[in-house]
Amino acid sequence: SVADMKGLKQGYLKITVVTTAKYVIPRLLGPFCQRYPGVEISLKVTNHSGVLERLSENKDDLYILSKVPDEPDVKSHPFLANPLVVLANHDHPLVHEKNIPIQKLADQPFITRESGSGTRGYVQKLFDEHNITPNVKIELSSNEAIKQAIAGGLGISVLSRHTIALEGASGQIAILDVENFPIPCHWYVIHLAGKQLSVVAQAFLEYLQTEGKQIAEDTAW
Ligand code: PGA
Repeated sequence: SVADMKGLKQGYLKITVVTTAKYVIPRLLGPFCQRYPGVEISLKVTNHSGVLERLSENKDDLYILSKVPDEPDVKSHPFLANPLVVLANHDHPLVHEKNIPIQKLADQPFITRESGSGTRGYVQKLFDEHNITPNVKIELSSNEAIKQAIAGGLGISVLSRHTIALEGASGQIAILDVENFPIPCHWYVIHLAGKQLSVVAQAFLEYLQTEGKQIAEDTAW
């Protein structure tokens, strides 16, 4: 395969990923960079609309996001599950309930991501399907800030399960068992259809789909 090519000594790889993927991709860069020490990598993290903007301007080699756009024309490769879960402070009264009806979420102070966030889009869609108007207390444009706000008792939220992978659900933040959750999202690696991938980009794409995917699945939760 291209990834085995001996000639791959140096190169520059530019990747932009959605904020949910920053909990996984940096970890996968370690083994890849050990194999190809001459490769220099630039990784940008932004939200869904930020990724689409960079894609339309042909700024990077590869992109990772959950919702593959219709435009521009892209090639997409399924990568990993990105389930969205309801998160609450560990001492929240709903923590020990099972099969919480989704309607109950409307009663809770809710913390939302910013507009342009794919996570927010998926949550909005599910709430719309169930005629739920969340009681939005605050909008925060960072998963980490939302985790801090949950820990501080500001409210509940819906985030990628990957956002709590390092600390696990046993820490300050718990996953609520709510009906219709997790929202079954999935990450894709995409690139412009008309773009000839560099040898390095091709090697990284192959790595993500094989060993990278395996490492991510083994270390997720
Ligand atoms: P985002 O990520 O909320 O940071 O836009 C969404 C996604 O997983 O595509």
